[in-house]
Amino acid sequence: MIEKGKIWLSPPHMGGREQWYINQAFETNWISTVGPQINAFEKLLAHFIGTENSAVLGSGTAAIHLALRILGVEHGDSVICQSFTFAGSANPIVYQGAAPIFIDSERETLNMDPDILEDALKQIDHSKQPLPKAIIPVHLYGMPAKMIEINSIAAQYNIPVIEDAAEALGSKLNGKMAGSMGAMGVLSFNGNKIITTSGGGALLSNNKNYIDEVRFLATQARDNAPHYQHTQIGYNYRMGNINAAVGLGQMEVLEERIKQKREVFNYYQDSLNRVEGIEFIEEPSGYFSNRWLTTILTKSYEQRETIRLTLEKENIESRPLWKPMHLQPVFKNARYFGGEVSEEIFNRGLCLPSGTALNKEELNKIVTIILQL
Ligand SMILES: Cc1ncc(COP(=O)(O)O)c(C=O)c1O
Repeated sequence: MIEKGKIWLSPPHMGGREQWYINQAFETNWISTVGPQINAFEKLLAHFIGTENSAVLGSGTAAIHLALRILGVEHGDSVICQSFTFAGSANPIVYQGAAPIFIDSERETLNMDPDILEDALKQIDHSKQPLPKAIIPVHLYGMPAKMIEINSIAAQYNIPVIEDAAEALGSKLNGKMAGSMGAMGVLSFNGNKIITTSGGGALLSNNKNYIDEVRFLATQARDNAPHYQHTQIGYNYRMGNINAAVGLGQMEVLEERIKQKREVFNYYQDSLNRVEGIEFIEEPSGYFSNRWLTTILTKSYEQRETIRLTLEKENIESRPLWKPMHLQPVFKNARYFGGEVSEEIFNRGLCLPSGTALNKEELNKIVTIILQL
């Protein structure tokens, strides 16, 4: 991603040892979707997140898909999902033939509002419709969702929670890692994430049966036989060993990357907090965000667009916050519970360049442009 003078939103940032791990894989000819680098990466991830098991996969979207599949989500079912998110959180619900039910956000963390979740479940329960088969809260931009409240509501209805921690590797709530608080946790190593494997994802769980089943389904659901035998429909969703080798190198610098992301956030906050109309999302007590992307809320759509377009003219990439799923044409018929919080955040929100290799000069250039508006 080298384009002279361009400042990207969140480009990959290699630590330096990735090439060494790739060479090791080449020297031993572990080039496919099995190999020691995959096993080592899975162990490291589970250890880092604090779950007993993990399976690395081709993408975070694949991880959500397999999580739904092993929870038995099928045609005619419904699944609750945070509306304010990237489409990868919700699309797999439709892959399974189920209907998404979207929930609005609260203003503190910008994630799934537990009160609205509770109301939605009460309404669904009272209408005697079948309860949703899963709940997908998302830790957007690295800020943990209100998992204590969400888990407690989910437990009352006995609905498993799939935590979408795709953007939140290293974020914590009361010391617990994002991805370790639900029945299953999902990570993404897409190129713009805090660490990348070029493309990839992982599913984490304390339930070994889930992870064994994920491995089975991800490798075309091949039964245990000398020939190729299948009693279920499977997928080709495994991560390649070369990608896992990149992941091993990236894990060595993960803590440093979290620190750098938080420094980027602090720099913007210190420099811009006196600008009229610009707000930052603070961490509530007990919340620790990896600050994957620094996001600001402006006072109006117009102010947001002025900042975005001025940065664009200077060859600096910034991006509106995710457009909520209930406003996406493709989900126009989906059920939605909530008001206008996520819509308003979308209209007023902007992600600022948050690359961990940004230097002081580049950061200064960005804030100077904004301060001059
Ligand atoms: C919140 C969220 N969920 C899911 C995904 C899907 O991950 P992937 O791109 O690895 O499929 C992403 C990122 O890309 C994401 O940001």
